[in-house]
Amino acid sequence: MVEQTFLMVKPDAVQRNLIGEIVTRFERKGFKLVAAKLMTISEPLAKQHYQEHDGKPFFDSLVSFITSGPVFAMVWEGEQVISVSRKMMGKTNPQDAEIGSIRGDFGIVTHRNIIHGSDSPESAEREISLFFEKDEILTYEKNIDIWLT
Ligand code: PPS
Repeated sequence: MVEQTFLMVKPDAVQRNLIGEIVTRFERKGFKLVAAKLMTISEPLAKQHYQEHDGKPFFDSLVSFITSGPVFAMVWEGEQVISVSRKMMGKTNPQDAEIGSIRGDFGIVTHRNIIHGSDSPESAEREISLFFEKDEILTYEKNIDIWLT
């Protein structure tokens, strides 16, 4: 089943020059990038994005972290991309994340855990529409062979 998901390189990973590394992992896996932008998240957008965590002890620090600098927001498309990308990201706490996963390889602490990814089709749809207009999400075919020569 071809799906779309919302993935975001968080401010810590942008500062650490990990955008290319992270994009490469999803490209190599075989997923298709259909939208992307470097942006700074406003406080209202951060609160909307993380609304389900409002009231939790970490909510204020999460909002302050995610608005602290540029993020790289993306929409990726592919077969089972929502669950597979969550596996590729690894567990929320980088110390529990498998080595080989993005958080396992690059993260150390939960409050700077490198990447966000939608956890269900419902949150993917909600998050994509929060960050992207419909006309920013592209539909296109990929065919490597015709671009080689
Ligand atoms: S919960 O309570 O189990 O639903 O929360 P969890 O799924 O573990 O985390 C929800 C998002 O909050 C981030 N998080 C934190 N940020 C800053 N500080 C602390 N202590 C903290 N704990 C959790 C966590 O990375 C999740 O964000 P995303 O962007 O979805 O990864």
